[in-house]
Amino acid sequence: MADKVSALLLFGATGDLARRMLLPSLYGLDADGLLPDDLTIIGTARSELDDDGYRDKAKQALDEHLAAGFYDPEIGERFLKRLAYVPLDIADEAGFQRLAEAVGDPARGLAIFLSTAPSLFKPTIDGLAAVGLACPTVRMALEKPLGSDLKSSREINDSVAAAFPEERTFRIDHYLGKETVQNLLALRFANSLFEPLWNSTHIDHVQISVAETVGIEGRGDYYDGAGALRDMVQNHMLQLLALVAMEPPTNFDATAVRDEKVKVLRSLRRPTSETIAAHIVTGQYGRGAIDGQTMPGYVEELGRDSSTETFIALKAYVDNWRWKGVPFYLRTGKRLPERQTEIFIQFNGVPYSIFAARGAATVPNKLVIGLQPEETIRLLVMAKTPGLDRHGIRLREVPLDLGLANAFADQRRRIAYERLLLDLIEGDPTLFVRRDEVEAQWEWIDAIRAGWSEAGVAPRPYAAGTWGPSAAIALTERDGVSWHE
Ligand code: BG6
Repeated sequence: MADKVSALLLFGATGDLARRMLLPSLYGLDADGLLPDDLTIIGTARSELDDDGYRDKAKQALDEHLAAGFYDPEIGERFLKRLAYVPLDIADEAGFQRLAEAVGDPARGLAIFLSTAPSLFKPTIDGLAAVGLACPTVRMALEKPLGSDLKSSREINDSVAAAFPEERTFRIDHYLGKETVQNLLALRFANSLFEPLWNSTHIDHVQISVAETVGIEGRGDYYDGAGALRDMVQNHMLQLLALVAMEPPTNFDATAVRDEKVKVLRSLRRPTSETIAAHIVTGQYGRGAIDGQTMPGYVEELGRDSSTETFIALKAYVDNWRWKGVPFYLRTGKRLPERQTEIFIQFNGVPYSIFAARGAATVPNKLVIGLQPEETIRLLVMAKTPGLDRHGIRLREVPLDLGLANAFADQRRRIAYERLLLDLIEGDPTLFVRRDEVEAQWEWIDAIRAGWSEAGVAPRPYAAGTWGPSAAIALTERDGVSWHE
């Protein structure tokens, strides 16, 4: 692992991500004594603020976004003292000079976090390089969106690579910072139980769902240009799929893990005009209700007409030896009835039931890995219902439950960014996305989008508070599969 850094430079320091996630995460790390003692956090953005002005804003952000009761004034004081602020207009060279002065000697280790529009990445990197802030002791973290297709993603990657080699580039996918996502690796590779069954001989299908109740949360301009496919599938869902499907890496290190993930991403079956029509359903929410509350439709929320998809369900295949013929059903959408993120694995049923003649039905085993709102790992197995069986045997599916919240009740649940910021500060890239992964993801997504434009695909309407268009249900039912809800 590389050396720790003594300065963290946050671009987009007054933005939504910094307020909701980055500052609370850094506070959490400080509270646990995990930040280097001498770490300075320098915020930069366009707003004209001084250090105290930024500290006030940061304090407000902590008040609003830290878990209730977690703020401690003593730690807060120490944390806020670490903060400094330099206003910056990207076009102004003198601004970068002031930034370099605030950072001090980059040889003491510097991590930079770009949470700005990707159109600003290149001028920002040029400005940093011009004042000597791209030297070998500097790491660069990039927040999504990293492009809107393969071409634009390559352009971004090229402009970053001109100043920062791959081993110092940390591309963020915040799903990789989630505890249960890392637990998926522990489940697969720290147990001998599952791996022998983890293949097409024993697994019937896999479902990956990210259901959200929120709408576009004031991010209409970005979201409308992206849609569910590029906002969620291109990054988070394909990363989850890669972790489910990858071969065992030889080590838990950045090269080995990412080598295995990229092989999966490259094995995704390319869509054809038939599968574009038969294996993918898109939708856009209209008015409806969630939990009894009326919700506006997407177009109403956005304030203009749009044909952007806010929902997508699709069937994918990983064409390799292990996964031959196993469908991976992916589904994500906004304004669905509940927030629920999970990976669901259905095993094959028993080859022959000895209980059938006694009137008992068996159903296949399932493994449910819940990411949100609860962190759970649940294995559904068949058990006998207690009784004397005078009228036949009764079997029931019961959960073997690893309620992580209970099993690890003494551990604080962390924000995904805590893990990622700490890894950035300490220089461990294992949970960051490598360039070849991002590009493999875009290749597949671009092929879908090309198919859509050729076929003139438009999203189907669904009411807010429902599980998307009915065609999404038909997509799996045709295969005799029901979405797990
Ligand atoms: C972001 C997307 O990357 O992930 C958002 O841009 C989405 O549209 C969010 O709401 C979901 O993240 P989480 O951690 O709340 O599941």
